[in-house]
Amino acid sequence: MGLSSAVFGLGLFALITSTAEGDQPANAYRIGPETGYAKARCLDGSPGLYYFSPGSGSGTSKFQIFHEGGGFCNSDSSCFDRAKGRLGSSSSDPKTWDLEKQGNLKFSRSSSENPLMHDWNHIFLRYCDGGYFSGDREEPKVVEGSSIYFRGKQITEALFSDLGRKFNFGNATDVVISGCSAGAIRVYAHIDALAQLIQAEAKVVALPDSGFYMDLDIFTPLKRYVVTEMEGQGLLNPQCLRDHVGSEEKCLIGSVISLYLKTPTFAFQSRFDSDQQGCEMEESCKSSATCLQAYAANLTSFLQKTLSRSPHGYFLDSCVRHCSYEDLAPRDQSGIAPLHAFATWYGGGQSHFGQPAKYPCPECCGTESTITV
Ligand SMILES: *[C@@H]1O[C@H](CO)[C@@H](O)[C@H](O)[C@H]1NC(C)=O
Ligand SMILES: *[C@@H]1O[C@H](CO)[C@@H](O)[C@H](O)[C@H]1NC(C)=O
Repeated sequence: MGLSSAVFGLGLFALITSTAEGDQPANAYRIGPETGYAKARCLDGSPGLYYFSPGSGSGTSKFQIFHEGGGFCNSDSSCFDRAKGRLGSSSSDPKTWDLEKQGNLKFSRSSSENPLMHDWNHIFLRYCDGGYFSGDREEPKVVEGSSIYFRGKQITEALFSDLGRKFNFGNATDVVISGCSAGAIRVYAHIDALAQLIQAEAKVVALPDSGFYMDLDIFTPLKRYVVTEMEGQGLLNPQCLRDHVGSEEKCLIGSVISLYLKTPTFAFQSRFDSDQQGCEMEESCKSSATCLQAYAANLTSFLQKTLSRSPHGYFLDSCVRHCSYEDLAPRDQSGIAPLHAFATWYGGGQSHFGQPAKYPCPECCGTESTITV
């Protein structure tokens, strides 16, 4: 979750700044002190921000809320540094952005690529709080003379309230809470609390992509700062918190929290996630097919143990990937693409999909892939 996610964040920035002439780019909405949300702030104090692309036809009462990813910060100095860039600030965000141009098919307006959500309202929530949209610390922290805000929970609440005011979210019939990487960690960790925040009589499900991290000493304790300094427990699962007194950060880990999930959750996850190789493995493991395979077997068993239960589902692939773009196109054994599998599950059909292939499996990413480790 360290370096590769930071790089992923920067890559996204390049995409954002280079989009200009989309047919109907999404508009940016600021959710901060100037727009009625006194406490909703990014790390640097700038307002929270989301992009909204309106749905059409029967999609106008349906909402996909996607959470941007990009690592996290876990010390005063790393949060201070992060506040200077786009993962800690909305101050350089463009007023409009063509969400489809990211290449993430969850924003596709094509019914063949995105059968369930192609005509829904699409919301992209910018990740600028540094701690999985969790923080709820009243006073800013002063680091090197600057105030740093930990207000992810406030951004969350402002988002729901603003969607209600502007886009009739209170009458929503369907809500998919999605996200990738850190955005998917947020989805696993907070989905039950988010479902309660939604006032509408809507069907609410979770679609976390690439957020099923394992509970390992090399990684989990790094998240302690989110719980203590950011005061980021408010949206975590109460039962999980009771079961992990003193190590509440475990409730931010997919393989731990998935046991507690009540809201229907469809996990989209690689068994050989490239970011997990970066933050959950020693060098010697990354370069050993046997070790990677053991990791994948462990992940598979945890995921199946927790998400095979009804009402959950999953698409568990063997494409070396992190998040999903057009060029990473894993297919189920029977040729089904992830968003088609998701639509099938959503409609009450088959709930488990996958590619139980051995490592390495270049063909698991589809024909276009050039991914190597
Ligand atoms: C639902 O929509 C109606 C008509 O637009 C509106 O009057 C009402 O306030 C909405 N309900 C909520 C809970 O937002
Ligand atoms: C499997 O995962 C669990 C929990 O994430 C971890 O504690 C355990 O060490 C892992 N086992 C192996 C063999 O990797």
